[in-house]
Amino acid sequence: MTPETAAWVTSAAASGLLAQAMATAPSGELALQTRLRGEGHDPAQVAAVLAVVAARRRASTKFGAAADRMFFTPDGLEQATRPELAARHTARFVRAGVTMVADLGCGIGSDALAFATAGVDVLAVEADPVTSAFARANLAPWSNARVVTARAEQVPLPGEATGRHTDAVGVWVDPGRRVRGVADARGRSRRVFALEEMDPTWDQVCRWAEQVPATGAKLSPAFPHGRIPSGVEAHWTSWLGEVLECALWWGPLALAAGRTAAVCRPDGRGGVTEAVVTEADAAAGSAATSLVLSGARDLGSWLWEADKAVVRAGVTGALPGRELTRGIGLSTGDAGVEVPWARRYAVLEAMPARPKVVRAWLRERGVGTLTLKKRGVALDPDRFRQETGRLTGDGAATFVLTTVGGAATAIALG
Ligand SMILES: C[S@@+](CC[C@H](N)C(=O)[O-])C[C@H]1O[C@@H](n2cnc3c(N)ncnc32)[C@H](O)[C@@H]1O
Repeated sequence: MTPETAAWVTSAAASGLLAQAMATAPSGELALQTRLRGEGHDPAQVAAVLAVVAARRRASTKFGAAADRMFFTPDGLEQATRPELAARHTARFVRAGVTMVADLGCGIGSDALAFATAGVDVLAVEADPVTSAFARANLAPWSNARVVTARAEQVPLPGEATGRHTDAVGVWVDPGRRVRGVADARGRSRRVFALEEMDPTWDQVCRWAEQVPATGAKLSPAFPHGRIPSGVEAHWTSWLGEVLECALWWGPLALAAGRTAAVCRPDGRGGVTEAVVTEADAAAGSAATSLVLSGARDLGSWLWEADKAVVRAGVTGALPGRELTRGIGLSTGDAGVEVPWARRYAVLEAMPARPKVVRAWLRERGVGTLTLKKRGVALDPDRFRQETGRLTGDGAATFVLTTVGGAATAIALG
């Protein structure tokens, strides 16, 4: 889409066609396209309308009903922060007394929307003109948000004109981790993984953090522990069990310096529940102080499986009991405690992690449905399942393949 078409599709001139396309089922879109072209509408504009509507349909799983009023590019939707996590980002700035945030690389504006909705003024900067046109449309209802099309490095930060940054100003950066112009079949561009390849660069993010104490940045869950700047909080967050980000929080935005994890899920009442684990929790935890297991005979009656955010943050020492292998997020013990960021299973039996052995166990119990988990062992669960062979029976079982005392072990869980 060209910037001109993006400007048109977000304008009042396109609202009639957008409404028609929104009211058309996906199966009727081809007929609609043919009819609109036949009526003399510009093919590029018709294509843009249909692209907006298709993106809104895809976006509804992330944005709910709000998606129907929003504009998304394929990359913009993919990279947009989930609204629930954007609200958590905003809460950090609000708690620190920040009243104006420069969102440097705002994408289609999901984080910026959360800032603006919470009453925080936003200067949203976006280099890509199509994406910035969409961000402008998405933020249009909020008079406290302004969108600028520019490279963020070239925009004076709020307060820079006066030569100082007040405590009320913050910076938020969610660098792009995609290569422009290298697209897949759905129009999304190739991902980059190295810190040096993201845009704005990691060095630039650190420069902004030096200039503005209240700086936050959203980075990949693979952010290396060794790159966490001193005194900064690196906060891994999972949503429904999937680790979505590692956010870095500088200065007044940090709640606990070092590595922390938040395990978030919907609370069923429109809000979010969260459980946070810190390095201090890990240092004080029983798993951190007791030695790892020397063999399967040391397994207790319970096994805890830490959420992956806790594993990524390296705070598995906070688990109850003793870790099976340091850092993989499995622990065992006899006290049946519950923690909100780990799943607890009863240990039924442990055996060598060999398909034949597991098959015999499953057949004996008439198990036809097997759930296989894997942590900290060099085994391919798909291949293991294949080699276990076809299973029949009404029963179901869950196994974790892991390493205990140096041996590949399959543990049946209840
Ligand atoms: C990960 S997305 C931001 C997503 C956003 N936080 C949201 O929730 O919708 C990063 C965006 O930064 C933009 N970008 C990359 N480098 C930039 C730069 N130097 N200046 C301004 N924008 C930039 C990209 O075009 C992309 O849209």
